[in-house]
Amino acid sequence: MSRIVLGVSGGVAAYKAALLLRAFTEAGHDVRVVPTPGALHFVGAATFEALSGNPVTTDVWSDVPEVAHVRIGQTADLVVVAPATADLLARAAAGRADDLLTATLLTAHCPVVFVPAMHTEMWLHPATQDNVATLRRRGAVVLPPAVGRLTGPDSGPGRLPEPADIAALADVVLTSGAAVLAHDLAGRRVVISAGGTREPLDPVRYLGNRSSGKQGWALARVAAARGAEVVLVAANVELPAPFGVRVVPVGTAEELRSAMHAEAADADVVVMSAAVADFRPASVAGAKMKKDSAGEPDSVPLVRNPDILAELVTKRRPGQLVVGFAAETGDDDADVLTHARAKLARKGCDLLVVNDVSGGQVFGRADNAVAVLAADGASTEIGLGTKDTVAAGIWDVVAPRLEPATQA
Ligand code: C5P
Repeated sequence: MSRIVLGVSGGVAAYKAALLLRAFTEAGHDVRVVPTPGALHFVGAATFEALSGNPVTTDVWSDVPEVAHVRIGQTADLVVVAPATADLLARAAAGRADDLLTATLLTAHCPVVFVPAMHTEMWLHPATQDNVATLRRRGAVVLPPAVGRLTGPDSGPGRLPEPADIAALADVVLTSGAAVLAHDLAGRRVVISAGGTREPLDPVRYLGNRSSGKQGWALARVAAARGAEVVLVAANVELPAPFGVRVVPVGTAEELRSAMHAEAADADVVVMSAAVADFRPASVAGAKMKKDSAGEPDSVPLVRNPDILAELVTKRRPGQLVVGFAAETGDDDADVLTHARAKLARKGCDLLVVNDVSGGQVFGRADNAVAVLAADGASTEIGLGTKDTVAAGIWDVVAPRLEPATQA
């Protein structure tokens, strides 16, 4: 259990703070909500008190003996301000202490995550951008806002990311610190495949696999949080799109292949985390295959699917990093890492993320542990953590390997 301060400033997205609060308390955290007076125009203190089980005050004059403006910040493990309005960002950047939330920000020693939400014009205004740069320079995480529908008919960057995305990213910061969501992928274009392909036998049946897409989703979410422009080529994944990420849905290996080739052409990083079927039925029946009650079923001839990762490696543009995934088990011949080294050499990619799937681990699970092998011989172990924490560890390996020439 961690102590989280949830700061809420006065924007209409404040209603989503109640859902975020719920996500935090359900994960077992002790949450103290500190709204600005403006936030209480949108959501009442009673809602935050009932959901957090803690008192809610906005000013430094209540509970004076408790010295709340000092104690709340000092004792927090994490401060998340969601939504962070243009005004809140400005006051935080200026170091003001004119309400309990800004006073708390000045006394917090722990990581601080700002989640901006405002109208596009306010977000893009140089004053706001300068304030964001100041806060980042001081070590705070400022998430990029999601793009989409804003209050009223407008749309553009300025939406609050969904509470589930914020909660997953907050958890990464709690585990690994604020530096893990540095803005180090700004200006980078990242293409990630996720999920598992389905190869149809007939209009009803397919050959598929157990990939849930969760690790690819986490990679996309963390890359977006670190400033990248992210495209997620998603094979049969039902999860909601991570914030700020463009999802290209595909079904078969062939569809995934065309989408990856199209999207990878101008990418800085290509990640193949999808489980691609190695074989597909040689032909797809036009009508549902009928049961033959008289005897054994027909055998299904299979043909090999192209190795998309190997193709992407051959088409890689200068400076582009290609990352493959490998689900491996050890056997009598060699251990997991030896098999993985051989695969890295065979595929020719720059990095290979290795999952040890002995005993049915990983698929569909919330947590994961991997090793990242590099073609230059380096290897990094990323210990058991949520898939978002593992994703952050993978980006920590990728980011310093990107060519500085294209760094934003
Ligand atoms: O050879 P193996 O299937 O273990 O390799 C896994 C890696 O290769 C993953 O990155 C997967 O996305 C990719 N792959 C591919 N095309 C295939 C099979 C796997 O790109 N037909």
